[in-house]
Amino acid sequence: MSGAVELPGDKSISHRYGMLAAIAEGTTKIVNYSTGADCQSTLACLRSLGAEMETRDGVLCVQGRGLDGLRAPQAMLAAGNSGSTIRMLSGILAAQPFVSCIGGDESLSRRPMQRIMEPLRQMGASIEARDNKFPPLTIRGSKLRAIDYTLPVASAQVKSCVLLAGLYAEGRTTVHEPVRTRDHTELALREFGAAVDVEGRAITVTGRPHLVARELRVPGDLSSAAFFLVAALIVRESALTIYNVGLNPTRTALLDFLAEMGAQIKILDVRGAGGEVLGDLLVRKSPIRGGVMEKDRTAALIDEIPALAVLGAASEEGLVVRDAAELRVKETDRIATIAENFHRMGLAIEVRQDGFEVPGKQRFHAGELDSFGDHRIAMAFSIAALIADGPSTIEGAEAARVSFPEFFDTLHRIAE
Ligand code: S3P
Repeated sequence: MSGAVELPGDKSISHRYGMLAAIAEGTTKIVNYSTGADCQSTLACLRSLGAEMETRDGVLCVQGRGLDGLRAPQAMLAAGNSGSTIRMLSGILAAQPFVSCIGGDESLSRRPMQRIMEPLRQMGASIEARDNKFPPLTIRGSKLRAIDYTLPVASAQVKSCVLLAGLYAEGRTTVHEPVRTRDHTELALREFGAAVDVEGRAITVTGRPHLVARELRVPGDLSSAAFFLVAALIVRESALTIYNVGLNPTRTALLDFLAEMGAQIKILDVRGAGGEVLGDLLVRKSPIRGGVMEKDRTAALIDEIPALAVLGAASEEGLVVRDAAELRVKETDRIATIAENFHRMGLAIEVRQDGFEVPGKQRFHAGELDSFGDHRIAMAFSIAALIADGPSTIEGAEAARVSFPEFFDTLHRIAE
């Protein structure tokens, strides 16, 4: 693996910039908005809510409708595969003077929504869900009350949902998080002009701000970079440069963990943009010791676990993952889909309810693998296939388009 990689815009940041642009005043210009299907689902929903937009010379221009300018959608809002779209947008929908329905694909229709329904109901919204917990959601918006809410699960999506709803409530809405999660919403809110106070793990937004359009650049997605970092670390004689990677400190637990395990990764040319941090990464094949992931660290690495499981099996001592029950409710039950593909490659893995254990120094056998429709499983096992003893096939590999449509083209270009 050698050469240079450019990544799509960060998925988390793209969703937030898109949503805030739609409820700001004026035209927001966004460079490097994610090409992933999930972030396109967010834009499609915003269009159905009346926000007009176009892409000019690769720059997404969104005409904001102002805080109170969205209009009732004609049909069910389609969130596709995107948990971020349905959970965060629901915060905005809960405050509208109209009824909206939002749903998604089969995978999204199995994902838990009580975690957003509970705080939004406390704020005064009425929400119905299938079996009172699954999409599609029917949201009857109303005038919202500011609340003080402690998250029962560490979730940046739920935090963001409540903060976005808090924009519409009179007064101050506070969210307390059990562990610090990604803070892109807080940073983006400030960029658009909202007042956000952070004290320890309590985040407070003041309602009814004047949101103003901005010109913004989305850093490359570190969670997408993870697949190439792992590839370069395990494929012999590799050296890769990955440009313009988002390095927000609430996302870089991956780089710390890799460095602790022995990865040679240099961070070059760190710079700021829109409250976010980005830089270039230089990674080389390195001997990896392996390690244990638990507690807060597991929460911070939750999206990177499929790639790290592959790295663990190729490491010296293996990988132990604990406190990862949330993996069971991602796009797939990722503990099960990782384990199934491990079995198909002849790799040992011991599964627990909230994690797994992977011995090191394993031989990867070629096999017939399956993404099970999950983008990160498709990409993680494409990387595993690179060091197998023959060609592997991956059923449903096109799922990669959910976050990284250019993944296979990029992989092809840098794999010699
Ligand atoms: C995200 C938060 C995380 C993460 C997801 C994106 C976000 O989900 O897994 O890919 O953009 O806020 P949870 O909030 O469910 O932990």
